[in-house]
Amino acid sequence: MPPYPTGSWMPVALSADLPAGTVMPAQSPAGRVALWRGRSGRVSAFADRCPHRGMRLSHGFVRGETLSCIYHGWGYAQAGNCVRIPAHPALTPPETVRVATQHVEDGGGIIWISAGEPTGGPPRFEGLAPVRSMTVEAGIVALEEATGTSTAGGLLDYTNADTSVRLLLAPEGPARTLMHVLIDEDSNPDERITASRAAEALRRAAEHIERGGTGR
Ligand code: FES
Repeated sequence: MPPYPTGSWMPVALSADLPAGTVMPAQSPAGRVALWRGRSGRVSAFADRCPHRGMRLSHGFVRGETLSCIYHGWGYAQAGNCVRIPAHPALTPPETVRVATQHVEDGGGIIWISAGEPTGGPPRFEGLAPVRSMTVEAGIVALEEATGTSTAGGLLDYTNADTSVRLLLAPEGPARTLMHVLIDEDSNPDERITASRAAEALRRAAEHIERGGTGR
C-alpha cells in the first residue's frame, strides 16, 4: 500500500456496491478491512481479523447493527466492541474484546476511509456521479500514460472517440490501482454503458503499459 498522508481519505468502494445488511473486503490506508453496512444504512470499517481466532471478518455476516464472525459467531457492534459470544449466551463480553475500527464516510456515492485521524471531510465532486469501480493491475504512472494526462484535483480525465470520463484513483500498491469511474450526474443509461466500456479499454491499455508495452 503506498503511503497516504495522515488525515487524508482513500476512496475504498462505491456506496452502491455495499447494500444494507452486507459486508465486503476492502483495502484501506492501514491495510485490509471488513467494510459493512448495518440495516440502518450506517457504514463501518473494521480491521479484517476477528479478535477471537483471527478469521477474516469480511467473511462474516451482518445482523441488524452488528457484524458477526463466520467462525464461532462472535458479534461486534459498530464501535468495535464484542456484544455477543454464542457459546456463552449469558456472558456480557468484556470491554477489552474489541476489533480495531477506522474512520469511514459515505457521501456522494463513494465510501472513504481516512488515514489515521481525519483533518477534515473527504473530497466532494459536484455534478459527478459514480458509475462503477474496477481494479487495474497497473500503477498511476501507467494510467496517466494511457490517458495522456496527469491527475489533477484528485481526478484523472480520460477522453476517447466516444466519451469523456473522470477517474478517481486509489493506489493499492506500486502496480495495482482501484479505479472509480465518474461521469456527469445527468447522464442517461446508454451514456453510462459507454463510459463503462471506455474505462475497460483504458484498463487494458494501462495494464499493457505496466507490462512493458508502449502507450498511445
Ligand atoms: S474466530 Fe471469530 S468468533 Fe472465533
